[in-house]
Amino acid sequence: MPLSHDALSLGMNVQVQQASASAGLLGDTPARDYVQKLQLFNSFAAPELRAAIERLDLEAGMRVVDAGCGTGEALPWLLQAVEPGGLVVGFDLAAAHTRAAHACSVARTAVLQADLMKPPLARASFDLIWSVNTINHLRDPSQGIHTLATLLRPGGRIALGQSSLVPDMYFAWDARLERLTNEAVRQYYRERYALDERALADIRSLVGLLRRAQLRHVSVHTCMIERVSPLARADEAYILEAMIRGTWGERLRPYLGGADFAELGRLCDPRHAQFALRRLDFHFLQSFTLAVAEVP
Ligand SMILES: C[S@@+](CC[C@H](N)C(=O)[O-])C[C@H]1O[C@@H](n2cnc3c(N)ncnc32)[C@H](O)[C@@H]1O
Repeated sequence: MPLSHDALSLGMNVQVQQASASAGLLGDTPARDYVQKLQLFNSFAAPELRAAIERLDLEAGMRVVDAGCGTGEALPWLLQAVEPGGLVVGFDLAAAHTRAAHACSVARTAVLQADLMKPPLARASFDLIWSVNTINHLRDPSQGIHTLATLLRPGGRIALGQSSLVPDMYFAWDARLERLTNEAVRQYYRERYALDERALADIRSLVGLLRRAQLRHVSVHTCMIERVSPLARADEAYILEAMIRGTWGERLRPYLGGADFAELGRLCDPRHAQFALRRLDFHFLQSFTLAVAEVP
């Protein structure tokens, strides 16, 4: 059901009852819930995400879609860039994420539960699609981009944000353990989602995906999200909960040698003297790439 412009202009939060989709490449379904991880990421990366929105030079009155809006932190940031008179619609496959996004929604924003492959929005009626760390969750990113582009008016832009196209640096003092940990994570995901290496790495070709979708004026900009100890609370919370506990931990045991797993355990334990995040030499780097293209 397309969202009516009346609902948008009233700033109503509209929820489509049943989004349907088989599990995505990385296991997303309408029932999946990683609200906490998304909230932590958005608090952590807020300065860089907001700077990326600013670089888009959005104008007052523009209409924006946040495709795969997750927990919705970007909705007010986007709205601020198109005020006065603009509108922002966020949609996401997951019911739990959509519910959390409602808490971030303000007047002139709307939140829907919907599948990116079947967006319930009017065609050719938006100026910008913003979509962060979502296209890489689709089984068919090309089709996803093509579908999103149909929502744009001629000259409208699609902005795809992607973290970690360059490997993160988190153990500045131990490149070897970092490399082995990264490989263990990749092995874990390949087995968990029955993927081969190419499927996980396909998203590196954002430029190619946009060009193959017949979009023009493709541009890319990568910034580094860079943090050093002592960490601010939001930075420590994201790196500790989303990365150390949410991505590493016990699940990596089968993919690391015993001594390396034990060393990783010490570095990841906030009660241990060697806890990585409180070391004097803790220096974290994570890339964030924004690829932008325009509909002819
Ligand atoms: C890594 S999260 C990123 C969320 C948000 N953009 C952010 O940066 O915090 C990926 C999001 O895409 C959503 N998603 C995955 N497949 C989707 C689909 N087919 N349609 C809509 N949303 C989808 C997931 O539910 C999840 O919220």
